[in-house]
Amino acid sequence: MTRDEQGRSGGPPAPLAIDVEALHKRFGDHEAVCGLSFGVRAGEVVGFLGPNGAGKTTVMRILTGFLPATDGTARIAGHDVFSDATAARRAIGYLPETPPLYPEMTPAAYVDFVARLKDVPRAKRREAVDRALERCGLLGVRRREIRQLSKGYRQRVGLAQAIVHDPQVLVLDEPTVGLDPIQIREIRALIRDLAASGNQTVILSTHILPEVEAICQRVILIGRGRKILDQPLAELTTGGVSLEEVFTRVMTRDASDALEKGAA
Ligand SMILES: Nc1ncnc2c1ncn2[C@@H]1O[C@H](COP(=O)(O)OP(=O)(O)O)[C@@H](O)[C@H]1O
Ligand SMILES: [Mg+2]
Repeated sequence: MTRDEQGRSGGPPAPLAIDVEALHKRFGDHEAVCGLSFGVRAGEVVGFLGPNGAGKTTVMRILTGFLPATDGTARIAGHDVFSDATAARRAIGYLPETPPLYPEMTPAAYVDFVARLKDVPRAKRREAVDRALERCGLLGVRRREIRQLSKGYRQRVGLAQAIVHDPQVLVLDEPTVGLDPIQIREIRALIRDLAASGNQTVILSTHILPEVEAICQRVILIGRGRKILDQPLAELTTGGVSLEEVFTRVMTRDASDALEKGAA
């Protein structure tokens, strides 16, 4: 059964790899995430969309254990990210908006360093590092300093560290931001390959709609910390409607709702 057939073939649905319920995050008076719930099934590739400031990064930082939620629950592969943090973190690979790369290190040394942090057993570390470098097309530059690499290659290093411990879930925060068109195409192809070959669950944030059309099977759109839409891509674009049209319509409606509420 291919991933696309899952859930349509009448078989039992795949288990939830990401399970978020009634999540809230307040920064002082500002509620960045307001009662957000969603689920992502194992093997799905989901686009997490929303305008700047919608709360995408905040949700991803909560999922990856970098930020505590104010309220609600989040589970990764069945592990609560708060009460079962170690197991949850082991099940997740994270490419942050700006990956903390060490410019003087080589890709090989850096990915090995992350593999140690992620508790990859010593006996398997070499193999895990080689495999991550290979999957991300980094074998040719493995001994160069990261600072000598192009931004596209640095982003590959970010992806390699995210997958080195073979996590079930990949969380990618705007993985193609700041790249040139060729690098964007390469990174997108790489993400698609990672998802297909590793049977990994992927949630990736972006506000580039063609990115979603190129990579994702489902779209979760948020605005002002709330869910606005959660639908398979194929359903959203039936009848030849472009994703851009759908989103412009939905976001305009959301903005006028917000204005009305503010006025009331
Ligand atoms: N550490 C923080 N302290 C205060 N406010 C924050 C912090 N992080 C994010 N915010 C606010 O939360 C909202 C959501 O931000 P963010 O999650 O970065 O959105 P996105 O990634 O969708 O652009 C924004 O209004 C942002 O200013
Ligand atoms: Mg962000």
